[in-house]
Order: sequence, then C-alpha cells, then structure tokens
Amino acid sequence: MKITAFTLGFLAAAASAAPAADTASGNNACAKTLALKITNIYENGDTNFHYDYCENIKDGRGFTSGISGFCTGTADAWEVVQQYHKLTGGKDSFSKYDGVLKKYAQSGSDSTSGLDGYCSVWSKLGKSDAKFRNAQDAIRDSMYYNPSQKLADQLGLKLSISRAQLYDCGTQHGTGSDADGLAGLIKTTNASFKADAKGSSGSTLKINGHNVDEVAWLTKFLQVRTNDLLHPKEKENASGAWKETLYRVKSYQYALSKKQYNWTKSVQVLDNDGKPVTVSC
Ligand SMILES: *[C@@H]1O[C@H](CO)[C@@H](O)[C@H](O)[C@H]1NC(C)=O
Ligand SMILES: *[C@@H]1O[C@H](CO)[C@@H](O)[C@H](O)[C@H]1NC(C)=O
Ligand SMILES: *[C@@H]1O[C@H](CO)[C@@H](O)[C@H](O)[C@H]1NC(C)=O
Repeated sequence: MKITAFTLGFLAAAASAAPAADTASGNNACAKTLALKITNIYENGDTNFHYDYCENIKDGRGFTSGISGFCTGTADAWEVVQQYHKLTGGKDSFSKYDGVLKKYAQSGSDSTSGLDGYCSVWSKLGKSDAKFRNAQDAIRDSMYYNPSQKLADQLGLKLSISRAQLYDCGTQHGTGSDADGLAGLIKTTNASFKADAKGSSGSTLKINGHNVDEVAWLTKFLQVRTNDLLHPKEKENASGAWKETLYRVKSYQYALSKKQYNWTKSVQVLDNDGKPVTVSC
C-alpha cells in the first residue's frame, strides 16, 4: 500500500493507543467492521480478511501481503513484522528477514532478494497465528483506519456512511494532503461551500462558518472524488487505472440514495459489477 508522510506522522501515537470508543449510533464497532468489509469488496472482491495472502504482483513494491496489501517495498510490511516482534518478544519466524526488510522499507526497493521463504512464513502465520493477525489489525488501524477517522473527527462527521467513505477513500488515494489525497479532497470539498446547505440527516457540520448538512457534504465529497478518479491532479497517479474504479464511489452513492446513514447491523451497497449486496457485521 502507498504511504505518505501524513500517515507516518500518526504511526507512533496510533500503534499503542486504541481509537476513542464512541458508542454513538453513527460510530460504533459494527460500523467499523462494515467499513472494512466494504472496502475489501472493492479491493479483493469479497468481504473476507486475507491475513495469509502473499504474492509478488510485480507492481514495483516487492511482496504484497495480508489484509491491507502490506508491501516489502513500502514501509508497511516492515511495520507489521516489528509489531509482531513486540507481541512475540522478538524471536520468531520473521527474525531472519529483519535486516533485509528494514533496508527495503527505508530505500523503497522492490527487490525480493534475501527474502526466500518470506511468503510461506507470512501465509503460515496468517492462517492461524493470533498474534500475527493482531499485528496486521494494529498496523491497518494505525496507518490507514485511524488517520481517516482523525480527519472525520476534524470535520465533525457523525454518520457511519461518511466516516466509512473517508476510510475507503484514504485506502485508495492515500490520506495525504496532496491534491489527490484524502485530506486534499476534503479541502476541495470544504472550499465548495459558500453558503448554508440544508438537509435532514440529523447532523450539521460547521464548514467555513456555514451550516452544512452532513449528507450534503458527503454528496459533494463523492463528486469531488469521482472527478479526481477521472482526472488525477498529480502526474504520478495519472496512469488511467483509477478510471476503472468508479464502481467504489457509485456503491457509496447507492447506499446514500437509500438513506442508509447510520449502520448498526448491515448495509446494502453495490458490488464491483454494480449488483446490490448486503454486508453484515
Ligand atoms: C498520488 O500522487 C501523490 C503526489 O505525487 C503521491 O504522494 C501519492 O502517493 C499518489 N497516490 C497514489 C495512490 O499513488
Ligand atoms: C474542513 O473544514 C472543517 C471545518 O472548517 C475543518 O475543521 C477541517 O480541518 C477541514 N478539513 C480539511 C482537510 O481542510
Ligand atoms: C445518526 O447518528 C448520529 C450520531 O449519533 C445522530 O446524530 C443522527 O441523528 C443519526 N441519524 C439518523 C438518521 O439516524
């Protein structure tokens, strides 16, 4: 997965501290599970968490593995392994790769030399080792889920659907403040509100001094994201591949059109072929 300076900034604090428990209807444990499962549909085609997945998909990031596509060529796989060491006391099946993993994480190398057997260790532990699964959960949260929810808190988002949308967007675009990143898209959305925007969602945001209904905000955000997927602003992101992923925005627009704002048991979204599918927690 892609990492930004913004995400890394949250790492140190986030790995130890659990996100603030919020039992309000829009922001509960079930809503988080649903957010994670929905993004899994877009990324992997199903709602399962693929802890044991490991493969070199030749995308310039070395081995890709686990529930968030952690890569040896970006810093996140190394973060998972270090978190696992903390839980095992330091000596485990990954120890022999530490030097190489650290080197590739720091240099952003896609090399897999020195990593013979890495994927079999990852798959074996991913199938059944509870500590290794916990390590993956912790790094997914500290690097991807929590940063997106911190931005949601800054906005005052209350509804499950908008908080989950920020997680999905951050997963694909990165959470950074570059023009295509989550914080960048939020900024563009914020700037578009020049007057109050009414609605009946039960949540009103204060944006640039205006009262903006949360659903009006989310509707605009989904348009901003669609526009960015069609016309990425940074050259690095302009391969054209993003155009093929509009289904993930349409899926949220569908859930929004059905007024599924707060999630407590299940939610109906669209799968990657545009068919309605019910996701339960
Ligand atoms: C998009 O481009 C920005 C700026 O070059 C970069 O920081 C970011 O990681 C890119 N996002 C993705 C998902 O490739
Ligand atoms: C969007 O606007 C809100 C309210 O003014 C602000 O708190 C938040 O930081 C803004 N977010 C970004 C990423 O600019
Ligand atoms: C959704 O939950 C939020 C936060 O608890 C609440 O303010 C809002 O009234 C709820 N909206 C609906 C439509 O249930």
